[in-house]
Amino acid sequence: MPREWDATTYDSLPLPHLGWGRRTLARLPLRGDERVLDAGCGTGRDTEGLLDLLPQGRVVAVDASVRMLDQLRSRLAGRLDRVEVVRADLTRPLPFEGEVDAVFSVAAFHWIEDHAALFGSLASRMRPGARLVAECGGRGNIVAVDAAVADVLGAGHRPGPWEFAGVEDTRARLAAASFTDIEVRLRPDPARFEPGEQVEAFLATVVLGAHLDGMPAEDRAPFVRAVAARLAEPVVDYVRLEITATRG
Ligand SMILES: C[S@@+](CC[C@H](N)C(=O)[O-])C[C@H]1O[C@@H](n2cnc3c(N)ncnc32)[C@H](O)[C@@H]1O
Repeated sequence: MPREWDATTYDSLPLPHLGWGRRTLARLPLRGDERVLDAGCGTGRDTEGLLDLLPQGRVVAVDASVRMLDQLRSRLAGRLDRVEVVRADLTRPLPFEGEVDAVFSVAAFHWIEDHAALFGSLASRMRPGARLVAECGGRGNIVAVDAAVADVLGAGHRPGPWEFAGVEDTRARLAAASFTDIEVRLRPDPARFEPGEQVEAFLATVVLGAHLDGMPAEDRAPFVRAVAARLAEPVVDYVRLEITATRG
């Protein structure tokens, strides 16, 4: 299973994900009675937005993290009758019944290195004609943060556990997984934080979580502080990959 997340701290942060979620929801046309998969739903912020747009519909909320899904259940207490909460790895056969009418995803796909397996797994659960509307980190994402990490770690630096895909490779992978009407674009979208505690908490919880997993506890805070100190400004240089496609 992929890594665990600190879901409580995640939800306490000033997340640029709120804007990405709103923007992605606005790109998904819905009648209101569909069954929609929220792929990498996390703590359920956009699952809730989807429920509001689906008064007669349902959401299948899939994530690999137990803690993210626990937080989602708390957030959506009282509305869970229309949510199927599923703990699963999105690159593996998805353990729920039937097909969905659409797939929605925010800030999750770049945490998955095998996009061919991801798109194949999603396609196998989408009815023909179903829409995929997603966004994630794309080619060029967090180059400045990664340079700061490399500077801190020196020879010990390894690429992070991400796939920041480009437009052409994403188009090719979607087409290979039987998607049509494919639209993919990159959008630079830097996020600014307060210097000090705020940017460090964001880096530790969201961007560098996987780096910290493999580090002794006493080295974590100094590492994050050193990375933040090397950034010219308290800015995470995000580049978003926006995807729209139809299951052929
Ligand atoms: C940055 S969070 C985004 C969560 C939510 N969509 C949001 O916008 O706040 C990334 C999420 O992707 C999930 N994730 C990463 N790899 C996954 C995989 N292979 N299968 C399922 N979920 C995965 C993580 O557990 C995490 O909840």
